[in-house]
Amino acid sequence: MVQLIDSYNRPINYLRISITDRCNLRCMYCMPKDGVSLLGHDDILRYEEIVRVAHVAVTTGISKIRITGGEPLVRKGIVDFVAALADIDGIQDLSMTTNGILLHADAVALRRAGLKRLNISLDSLNPEKYTMITRGGDINQVFAGIDKAQEAGFSPIKINVVAIRGTNDDEILSFARLSMDREVHIRFIEYMPVGMENGWKKERFISCTEIQNRIEELGHLSALPSDNGSGPAQMYKIKGAKGRIGFISSLSNHFCSTCNRLRLTPDGKLRTCLFSDAETDLKAFLRQGCSDAELEHIITDAILTKPQKHHATEPVFKKCVRGMSAIGG
Ligand code: 5AD
Ligand code: SF4
Repeated sequence: MVQLIDSYNRPINYLRISITDRCNLRCMYCMPKDGVSLLGHDDILRYEEIVRVAHVAVTTGISKIRITGGEPLVRKGIVDFVAALADIDGIQDLSMTTNGILLHADAVALRRAGLKRLNISLDSLNPEKYTMITRGGDINQVFAGIDKAQEAGFSPIKINVVAIRGTNDDEILSFARLSMDREVHIRFIEYMPVGMENGWKKERFISCTEIQNRIEELGHLSALPSDNGSGPAQMYKIKGAKGRIGFISSLSNHFCSTCNRLRLTPDGKLRTCLFSDAETDLKAFLRQGCSDAELEHIITDAILTKPQKHHATEPVFKKCVRGMSAIGG
C-alpha cells in the first residue's frame, strides 16, 4: 500500500467527506439564524462520484474516512452510501459525525452497513439551552439516538462539546460527570473562528487548559495513551469513571505538525486545511471525464500543497470564507 507523505513529512491517511451542506439544526457557532445559501442539486457530488474519489484516494494512502456535513443523516440514501464506502478494500476505519437528531431511526442500519464509529455533537445537557444553541433542536431526540446507537453496538460513543464562555461553560462539570456514569467519551472542542458569521470572539473562547483545570475539581484526571481513533484529542479519565474525557485544543495548541487530514466538501472541492480557503476542484475534473490515474495525480498534487500550519491564532488571521457546514467539521 502506498502511503503519501506531504511536504512536511506528514503521512496523509485520513479523508473527511462532507456529503451535504444542509442541516436540520442552526447551531449558533456554525450557521446564521436564517441558514446559509445552500448548494443546488447539481453542485453536490453524487454518491457514485464520492465513492470513486474514495477508491482513488485509497491508492494514495487514505485508510480512514469520516462522513460529515452539514448533517449527513439528512441526505437520502445514506445507508447504501455507507455500505459502498465500507466495501472499499483498504478502508480500515469508517466513521461519522452527526448531531444525533435522526440517529434513532438510522443507527441499526448504519451499523449493519459497516459504519464503525460515531461522534455526536451535543453542546448542552439542558433541554432549553440545547434548543437555544441549536436554534430549535429537541435534546430528547439526541438522547434517543445515543441510546439506540449504543444498543446497535457503537462503542464507545463520542460526544463533541464545543465550549463557549458565557453559553455552556457552566455545564463543563455536568458533562464530565456524564463520563463517570456512562461509557462515553466526552470531548471538549475549542471554539474556532470558521466562517464569516459564526459569532467567534476572544471573550467567548475558552481554552482546553481552563476546562481541564475546572474538571480537576471533580477528581484527578489521569492521562491515557492516545489510541488510533482519538485523533488530535488528548484523552483522560477520572478515577473510577466508565467513560473518558478528551480535549481538542484546535486553537491553543494546534496539532498541525501531526495533521493527517484531507477534506472533501459537498461540492467536490478538496481542501488540505480547515483554515485555508485553498481548494482543488475535483468535481470539475470528474465531470470532464478524467481517468482514475489523472484523479490520483490531482489528489497527490493537492496533498503536496498542504500548508505547514494554520494561522488562526495570529492577529492578521482572516477568517475563512466558507462556514463549517459548507466545509465539514
Ligand atoms: N468551532 C468548533 N467546533 C465546531 N463545530 C462546528 N463549528 C465549530 C466551531 N466554529 C463542530 C460541531 C461538530 C463538529 C462537526 O464540528 O459541533 O461537533
Ligand atoms: Fe448543523 Fe452541525 Fe452546524 Fe449544528 S454544528 S448547525 S448540527 S452542521
